[in-house]
Amino acid sequence: MTAGKRIRDGRQTSLCVVRHGFFVSCSPSLYSGRGKFIAVAPNTPARIFLHMPKHTIVLIPGDGIGPECSAAARRVLDSAGLDAQWIEVPAGATALEQGHDNVLPAVTIDAIKQHRIALKGPVTTPVGKGFKSVNVQLRQKLGLYAAVRPVRSMQGIKTRYEGVDLVIVRENTEGLYSGIENEITPGVVTSLKVATEAACTRIARYAFKYAVQRKRKKVTVFHKANIMKLTDGMFIACAQKVREEHFPHVDYDELIIDAGCMKIVQDPTKFDVLLMENLYGDLVSDLCAGLVGGLGVTPGANIGDEYAVFEAVHGSAPDLAGQNKANPLAMIISGVMMLNHIGETAIAAKIKSAYNQVISEGKTVTRDLGGSAGTKEFAQAVIDRF
Ligand code: NAI
Repeated sequence: MTAGKRIRDGRQTSLCVVRHGFFVSCSPSLYSGRGKFIAVAPNTPARIFLHMPKHTIVLIPGDGIGPECSAAARRVLDSAGLDAQWIEVPAGATALEQGHDNVLPAVTIDAIKQHRIALKGPVTTPVGKGFKSVNVQLRQKLGLYAAVRPVRSMQGIKTRYEGVDLVIVRENTEGLYSGIENEITPGVVTSLKVATEAACTRIARYAFKYAVQRKRKKVTVFHKANIMKLTDGMFIACAQKVREEHFPHVDYDELIIDAGCMKIVQDPTKFDVLLMENLYGDLVSDLCAGLVGGLGVTPGANIGDEYAVFEAVHGSAPDLAGQNKANPLAMIISGVMMLNHIGETAIAAKIKSAYNQVISEGKTVTRDLGGSAGTKEFAQAVIDRF
């Protein structure tokens, strides 16, 4: 059978005749997809030139330990057999250093809009001054309304707790992170906490749906509706309504967040899916990371209806940056969440099994887990277990 294939790179189009998977002729030349034109001899296997990666993934290395951790995660994913083209774009202080006039350049947003999936390293946000958080902007601009943060005990990581297996679902687009702050008069400032029925309902629906899909039993809302009667009041009212209308079979309860935090540290195994608004989700994520080994092991995903950005819970850790000391595991696990999201479940399982072996053997772990391995050595140990 003969087929004509046109390969276009924007400047030149080649018409190739392929028979039974081999080039018969190619006119005038063929763009290799690797930045150059090549002459193709007849009877060359077409697959050599026509290979298109299965996935295109945006990679944002980020600031501080971000580039080290994201490079390690990318190596692990590639070595496990992921067939992906990575599109690297900047964000944060790195974007400014590269000459962009914005911490979240249009090229970065455009790349995610085009390819829909990104793996992101942490970015530094100045405290008390400077630009608006890249993370807040990214989540708002791309409608990444659900932050999903699984927190699990891992074999080989000794902590005060065993059997922790909970998931934080955090509303990611509003609340006190709306960034609406005003100076009323010198010495008096306000910060507006925004809650909309649409966003509260959307995140509640996501949390219940997630619970059902993942065969989880219970959703618990953390709130402070005794004080913030309108905003947090709306949050719990929406959760109650979503449950009553669509998920009556899922167990549900509500806890005032201060008491909720106390109960988590008393016995985290009592919790399953935790649903909360933006600020509470941010704080409780780090608290829960501390239950299972710290920020070096806690992954996350920011999910919207159209796009998904996977990133660890941790920040840019300036104290460790550039020293090959950071634990890349949180970012590797975020990559595994991404693989499951794009349907690469076998590769995800392979990586999970490999890092579980490395962690339980305990010989090649980073300092935060009591070892002395570097970021690169840990990643290599995971790859060696494939
Ligand atoms: P952080 O998460 O960067 O660090 C807190 C502590 O955890 C530090 O002692 C650090 O050394 C340790 N740590 C963090 N990640 C680690 C890893 N992979 N391996 C081993 N140890 C690790 O939080 P911090 O110091 O409050 O924030 C630093 C910067 O990061 C700030 O500018 C903040 O705004 C930003 N940040 C960015 C986030 C993101 O881009 N998603 C999330 C959180 C903070």
